[in-house]
Amino acid sequence: MNNPERMKVLILHGPNLNLTGFREPDIYGKRPLEEIDELIQQAADALNVEARILQSNHEGVLIDTIQEHRKWAEAIIINPGALTHYSIGLRDALVSVRLPVIEVHLSNVHAREEFRRHSVIAPISLGQIVGFGGHGYILALRALLDMRKEVV
Ligand code: DQA
Repeated sequence: MNNPERMKVLILHGPNLNLTGFREPDIYGKRPLEEIDELIQQAADALNVEARILQSNHEGVLIDTIQEHRKWAEAIIINPGALTHYSIGLRDALVSVRLPVIEVHLSNVHAREEFRRHSVIAPISLGQIVGFGGHGYILALRALLDMRKEVV
């Protein structure tokens, strides 16, 4: 049955995040993305959130998915991968759908190369959660729920 109280959240992973677990494990962790997604789904269920999760290596697929979910989603949690640092197209799509956005990064982008400190997504986001690995997505879900309930 459809629960009207259930918050609907679109969760997106950008380019190369499908290789999480294999790719630079010292930076991104050893847990594969499939496991991270399972943990996100478990947390979403426990929090009474309906989560749709998608990973794509293609900017256009991410943009199409954002547009397609503009009426379904109440909020978007996105790890745009490298697109964070330069994709005006992705940023414009996020602005266009007029949904609250939280930007997540597995690694602490501010403690790495200079170019990773700059995000074209951050100025149009509620905030960034960085450096907590897969846990960052769950923190983002909690933040959305707390803000919805005006807990703080
Ligand atoms: C990343 C950080 C980006 O700079 C990088 O291009 C990624 C992953 C992260 O989750 O830490 O692909 O978004």
